[in-house]
Parts: sequence; C-alpha cells; structure tokens
Amino acid sequence: MSERRADAKEAPEESRLSEAEIAVHWKEEAIYHPPPKFVGQANLTDPAIMERFSEEHFPECFREYADLLTWDRYWTTTLDTSHAPFWKWFVGGRLNASFNCVDRHLEAHRNKAALIFVPEPEEEPTQFITYQELWVRVNEMAALLRDGCGLRSGDRVTIHMPMTAELPITMLACARLGVIHSVVFGGFSGEACGARIVDSGSRILVTMDGYYRSGKLLDHKANADIAVRKAAEEGVTVEKVLVWRRFRDRPASTTPMVEGRDFVVDDLLKQYRGHRVDPVSMPAEAPLFLMYTSGSTGKPKGCQHSTGGYLAYVAGTTRLIQDLHPTDVYWCMADIGWITGHSYIVYGPLALAATSVLYEGVPTYPDAGRPWRIAERLGVNIFHTSPTAIRALRKLGPDEPKKYRYAFKCMTTVGEPIEPEAWRWYYETVGRREAAITDTWWQTETGGFLCSTKPALDPMKPGSAGPPMPGIYPIVFDEEGKEVPQGAGRAGNICIRNPWPGIFQTIWGDPERFVRTYYGKYNRNRSSTDWHDWPYFAGDGALWAADGYLRILGRVDDVINVAGHRLGTKEIESACLTVPEVAEAAVVPIVDAERGRVPEVYVALKPGIAPDPAIAERVSRAIETVIGKIARPRAVRIVPDMPKTRSGKIMRRVLASISNRMDYGDITTLANPEVVEQIRLQVQGSGPVEARAGPEDIRRFGQEH
Ligand code: PRX
Repeated sequence: MSERRADAKEAPEESRLSEAEIAVHWKEEAIYHPPPKFVGQANLTDPAIMERFSEEHFPECFREYADLLTWDRYWTTTLDTSHAPFWKWFVGGRLNASFNCVDRHLEAHRNKAALIFVPEPEEEPTQFITYQELWVRVNEMAALLRDGCGLRSGDRVTIHMPMTAELPITMLACARLGVIHSVVFGGFSGEACGARIVDSGSRILVTMDGYYRSGKLLDHKANADIAVRKAAEEGVTVEKVLVWRRFRDRPASTTPMVEGRDFVVDDLLKQYRGHRVDPVSMPAEAPLFLMYTSGSTGKPKGCQHSTGGYLAYVAGTTRLIQDLHPTDVYWCMADIGWITGHSYIVYGPLALAATSVLYEGVPTYPDAGRPWRIAERLGVNIFHTSPTAIRALRKLGPDEPKKYRYAFKCMTTVGEPIEPEAWRWYYETVGRREAAITDTWWQTETGGFLCSTKPALDPMKPGSAGPPMPGIYPIVFDEEGKEVPQGAGRAGNICIRNPWPGIFQTIWGDPERFVRTYYGKYNRNRSSTDWHDWPYFAGDGALWAADGYLRILGRVDDVINVAGHRLGTKEIESACLTVPEVAEAAVVPIVDAERGRVPEVYVALKPGIAPDPAIAERVSRAIETVIGKIARPRAVRIVPDMPKTRSGKIMRRVLASISNRMDYGDITTLANPEVVEQIRLQVQGSGPVEARAGPEDIRRFGQEH
C-alpha cells in the first residue's frame, strides 16, 4: 500500500511522482514527422513564429491574429491590464462578429458553401448554404429578433438547439445585433436549460421542435416547456419561445405550442422576408456569448467571451493549427453546444471564409462507416473530432475507413487525452499516414487552443498535446506554488502565465468566483495590475517533458470528463438529492474504455429507509431530468454510510479508488474507516485489495484546491 494520507488537504504528494509512476501508463512515444505533402501547402511553415510571439513581443504579437479581422475602428490599446485579472484586449477597437463571418466574404465567396448540413437520416438530402444564403437568413433572423422580439445589444438569448444549420444562423443573428447568445447543448435536459436561462436572465428562448439521434426523432420542444417552467419557478419570465422546425413542411413534435408564447420561426420570418439589418458595431470587449460549463460547485459557470479578442484568437488559431484555407472543406464533428463547436465549427472557420460541415447525428449511425462516407461525398479534407469518437469508430469499424475514398490533409483531436493506440489508428487507418495530426488542449474558458503541435513544424507525439501555442506561456506549479521545471519528470498543475485574446472575461454575474477559481491559487498580489502576477489556473494536471511537449493528465478538481464533456460532480450530486429518500450522495469517475470516464454514484439513505433498487433507479432518472442523458451514471450504489474525514468531508477519492479497483491508500485517519471495507466488498466482491496504480486524475480526484 502506498503511504498516501487520506486527508485531502494534506495530500499534495502526487506532484512528487516520477514520470514512470504517472498512472496514464503511457510511456514516452516515438515521434512522427509531418507528411511532406502537407508541409508543402501549409499556412504555418515559418519557425520564426515562436520568436515573433515570444514574451519580448507580447502583447503586440497578437496583432497578427487581430489583423485577420475587419475592424470598423482599429484599436488603440492592445492589452489593458488596469483591472487585472479582467483583461481587455484591443481596447478602442470596434467590430461586428456577424459581419466578419458573413458579409465581408460576399464579394469573393458569395456562391460558396458556408455551411453544409448533413441530416442524420442518410436518405434525407444534404443542405448547402452559400455565403449569400447565410447572409440573407442571418439578416432575416436578426430582423425578427430585433423588431419582433425587441432585442438590443447587451440582451441575452438562450438557444437550446440541436446540430442543424438554424443554430449557427441564430447565433450569427444575435451577434449581428450585439445580443449575447447563450447556447445550451441540445442534449441537456429542459431543467438544465431552465437553470441557464435564469442565470443569464434571458427572456427569449430559441429552440427546435425535434431532431434525429441514433435513428430516432426526438421531441425537443417538450424540453422548452420544462425550461420555461423551471425559469418561472426561479422568477425569470420567458416571454417568447421561438421554435424552428426540423422539417419545413410539418412539425417534428407533438408537444402543443403555447398560445401567445410559442411561435414557429418560419411563420414569423415571413414578415421579415428581404429585411436587412445593419451589423451593430460593437466595442472589442463587448461580450459575444456565454457558454456554461461545470466547475467544483453545483452551479454551472457562465463563461463570458468577448467579441474582438475571442474572434481574433479563434481566427488565428484556426488558420495556424487547422491549416484552414478558403478552398478547404472542413468538418468538425463536435456539437456547437460546446465550446469546440462555437470556436471551431462556427466562428473560426466562418471568419476565414471556409466551408464548415455540420452533422446532425451520432458518428456511428447507421454504422461506423458514416463519417467516412460523409467525408468522401463532400470532399472533406480537414477533420476534427474527439478521442471518444475515435475510440468508438475504431471499435465498431476498425477497417471501415479503408472502404472510402477521401483524403484528409490534417486531423485534430480535442477534449481528452488520447491513448497512443487510438492515436495510431487515427493516424494510420483514418489518415493513411498522409495527414498531420494535432492534439489540441484547451477549455471552455480559454476560447481557443492553448497547446498543440504546429502541424507543419512540430513532430507529432502520440498522447501528448504538444508544445504551447504561439504567445502562450505555460508554467507547471506544485501545490505550494513552486515551479516544476520542464523535464523534471514530475506532474503538477498547469497554469498559463499570461493573458491571451481568447481568454474569457469573467463568470457571468459572479466576478468574485472568477477571480477565486482561476487566479486565487497562485496570484502573488491581489492589487497588482501586472499580468505577471496573475497566472491562470487551468484545473488540469500536466507533465512537461524536456522536449517541450505537455502531456495533460486530466482534471484536478471535482470535474469528470465524460466523453470529452465536462460534468461537475456537485451538479450530479445535487440532482441525486432531489430524490427524497437520499440523505447523501457522492459521485466519482470510473475509467471507461470508450468514453474516457463515466460517473458512478454512491448514495446513503435517510435513517429508517431500506435499500431498494427502485430508489437507485429513481436516482438515475433524477440525474437525467436535472442534467441530461449525458450524465447518466454507470451504476448507483446504495451504501450504509459514506467514508468521511473527522471533519465530515466525504472522501470521494476513496470511493473513486474502490470503483476503479485501485488501492485506496491509508484510511486510518477517517472517522469511519470500517465502512470502506464494507463498501469495497459490496462493489468488488470478496477478492483482495488490488494495489494497482490508476490514472492520475482519479488518484487526485476529490482533493481540495
Ligand atoms: O481536462 C481537460 C480536457 O477537457 C477539459 C476542458 O473541457 P471543456 O471546457 O469542456 O472543453 C473541451 C474542449 C476544449 C480540460 O480541462 N481536455 C481538453 N482537451 C484536451 C483535454 N485533455 C487532454 N488532452 C486534450 N487535448
């Protein structure tokens, strides 16, 4: 057994582990060089980029990204740090995001597809939306939002929509008006949507009546009714629900429309046919959107992203890392309801006049050949997806890619660490050794990539995200704030020393939480206006190798990365507590070969209530209702008591070890050590304790920071 102490507060020793002990059990991998054909055409082939973006040239280096945009008024101050850590980029500048993603491309690309919408049913025709058509539809929708709903710049609109072309159209219509959109992932429940409506103070909800998922037509309109009810319970009135129709000619949902509140968008749009709305010139630091994400508490955080800094950063990084040229056909298989979709389906690609493919459904429907058929048919040459999708496609159809004639020049992964084995399948079988692969590490908060190989310049190393992006200066700290140097062979908490244009501005409505969560841990001087004093705490463990490549080891807080999506354990636990019989709940991540991590739930019942599988079932259903199917636990375990410290804190780390069949360490300091063995027997049966190392994020799980 290890000598790890059970009390979380006294257990920073993980950062002393040697690299060999790091549990990701991935060893140093051989490197692969970028294919010469790719290098020959790449946007970024000049190694001097790192020098151009070195600290000596910071922050002016980011002018290079901002100059990709069209500004109504050029900025006067590149970076204003006077209200640290509320950084302001390109101050004095004015621009409109919708103009930059649509209008300015009309002259050269009017007749080019901006969006290609691929419906899940294979027999349904693909929709090609040219820049001209996008411009018309964005204008008409903007007219409806402005003239029909009375929305003005600074107002918030919640958008709860599936992956269809109407989603980016709605986002760009908001951006045209300076209205702040808050897109809620379509798979989140009505209640989760309602909570986000309340937090953002939206009085308009935009939704769609239905959509296809795994061959089924889902009734999505029903979620809107729940969302509006939940918002009303918390004092926020949704005045109008705008319902896009999945099918032009018929409803996709049987949920009734509420008279005077719900409106079919296409009916309303008739009034605005041919209307044009001048893009509102917004200050660079005006918020463009909110994107809610999970953290260590039960309340999701509304990450507020700026207009100028964000758009500059996603345009710059899309160009350099995804190597996007206007002639490319680009497909990011993420969902627009997450940050990846915002930055790298909508804003980055459209800012660069690309063709961006949107796919409605699941990658393995109707079979694991679907993505490769889509790529073949549309001539996709840049492909972006997650390790979870790669694992699923590999498992179900390891040889499928060989059946189709497509040619990728570069491919990206995002969202989770990718196992070298999965990486190699992606490189060899999907990419046919002809595509450069980038593993991009970043977060909802960061707007765009923070670490990645530069595809024509840096060799690829499976399992490592790669070196920092130009203009990003990371540092790895131990728990005491001492630097863990590059090549030290020890893991620590990755931070970024400097601000960059894509960083979020604040947590909507909670600036104190913003400062506390992201800067509280390593800030040296609260009143400093010097950015050097404010390292950004990312919440991930990382190992920085001597060659400059960063290997991301996973979250160090109570966040579970399920299939590349962030779920807060506290949010899931609060959902469990809505079941009246439940007294206490603890949620832990378990390792899953396909989805990376999945949640497992432990509950203790109120006194006098006997364990019953029906209660476990109700807990599972409560989680789906409050959050969504994505959070559905692998198992709900009813236990006699939770392992606790003497101060009453539930030891999630011990439970995580049990669930993952790992050594749970020394538990003698617990208030109730005997319960641990009881739970272990219940979960694992009567075998001996297995002393095997587990993944780093699970070993650190549940520790306080
Ligand atoms: O733990 C890291 C993991 O995903 C978290 C961010 O999740 P989210 O805000 O939902 O954004 C996901 C898409 C950017 C990070 O804190 N993560 C993201 N990318 C990688 C990763 N872990 C390892 N390798 C990556 N490439």
